[in-house]
Amino acid sequence: MTRGRAVLAGLTSLGLALAASGCGALGGSATPVRAVEFGTELAIPPLAESTVVGGVRTFELTARPGTREFLPGVTTPTWGFDGPYLGPTLRAERGERVAVRVTNELDETTSVHWHGMHLPPAMDGGPHQPIAPGDTWEPTWEIDQPAATLWYHPHPHGATEEHVYRGLAGLFLLDDDASRAADLPSRYGVDDVPVVVQDKVFDDDGRLELRHDGGEPGTLGDTVMTNGTVGAYHEVTTERVRLRLLNGSTARTYSFGFEDRSFDLVATDGGLLDAPVRLDEVRLAPGERAEIVVAFEPGDVTRLRSTEPDLGGVAASFAMGGNDAFDVLELRAADDLAPSPAPAWGPSSHAGEDELRAEDATMGRSFELADRMINGERMDMSRIDEVVTVGDTEVWEVRNAHPVPHSFHVHDVQFRILTIDGREPPPGLAGPKDTVYLEPRRTYRLLMRFEDYTDTEMPYMYHCHMLLHEDEGMMGQFLVVEPGETASDHVGH
Ligand code: C2O
Ligand code: CU
Repeated sequence: MTRGRAVLAGLTSLGLALAASGCGALGGSATPVRAVEFGTELAIPPLAESTVVGGVRTFELTARPGTREFLPGVTTPTWGFDGPYLGPTLRAERGERVAVRVTNELDETTSVHWHGMHLPPAMDGGPHQPIAPGDTWEPTWEIDQPAATLWYHPHPHGATEEHVYRGLAGLFLLDDDASRAADLPSRYGVDDVPVVVQDKVFDDDGRLELRHDGGEPGTLGDTVMTNGTVGAYHEVTTERVRLRLLNGSTARTYSFGFEDRSFDLVATDGGLLDAPVRLDEVRLAPGERAEIVVAFEPGDVTRLRSTEPDLGGVAASFAMGGNDAFDVLELRAADDLAPSPAPAWGPSSHAGEDELRAEDATMGRSFELADRMINGERMDMSRIDEVVTVGDTEVWEVRNAHPVPHSFHVHDVQFRILTIDGREPPPGLAGPKDTVYLEPRRTYRLLMRFEDYTDTEMPYMYHCHMLLHEDEGMMGQFLVVEPGETASDHVGH
């Protein structure tokens, strides 16, 4: 146990603010990330096979236990989809109907949520769609949203952190005419590379360990992996590479960049930005994604790294990983690089229908996050917190009233950040989002529209994506209903 961790143990969230100055004097990090050799080729999650029958693209996923050697000579028990750790990448096209047959071969109940997907609440895979051991659940829906890097992961009530941490997660990529027309690197696993970043703690027996002794954010791991590979490198063969970054960690917030170059941010959670944005770093909280395009010269070797993230005025920031800096993935360019186009695109044929306009908002709601509660309440599976009328555009005013960070996620929709404390968001946060890092003591105004899929019994979720916080109750439920309808007495069928 490091000195920082010992000091932190026992601090409550309220105590953190008071203790901040004292803790700050320690310097250093509560959870230093270990330096590793970058000597293992990056594992690329396979593209999931599918069959198209009667116009429905059908995938199969099986959650099951396994083992994996993350550290040389150490066998670690894991969970994964169709393999020991993580899962295959699902991929579908806007306008397609998809189905996924999800089988649970674990010995406990899980669920699979399609994070970022616009779909009916009964297909959402949240806590109201449990899959018992041995059972198969088969949701089906139409892909009706712009191309994006989405992901899937379990969402069982009170156990999401553990299920994701053990290895259950994967990407779900959506394509459309705009993403195909954009001049973006697009050869999967070659110059269009998924990078799922997670941090872990291994106990003395090599088991994945969740540590809750530090209290606040959850477990900050001392070992960082990409796609389940510790110390990975990727061979670059083209002048530009698109990295699809997913923060698949349960607690840690990263600030991704390179020591020697900037990059173009081309997409956020819900899809392409209006235009690429040149950045030196991109901060990602748990659940957030970013697609970045990085340029290479022949023979370059560089590393994607995470520098000390600016957590935004967090008390005892060191205890949240605010002092941690480490390398994440090595990129090794060949001596001859195939040409790549520079990223550029115009508006998609769906631009009009996808656009959110603040002047259309007819309803506002406010949400205050503090002490594992939203608006003073912990999650209750049988309580509906908000009832939304279908077709409405709304502004959700979300305030982090806590001295610690949170990460706010809304199911069903992609939103736009209108303002942060009354000011326009920086360009990197101006695109479509479903999850947003909430700096302490700030207010975020989020614009969203609820287009269809009414149901008076089955809710969608909104919650903190720091998964310990979610499990401890920082979650609420909303219904989307027809005008005039109210919530049924039977929440969740
Ligand atoms: Cu990625 Cu409700 O979760
Ligand atoms: Cu939180």
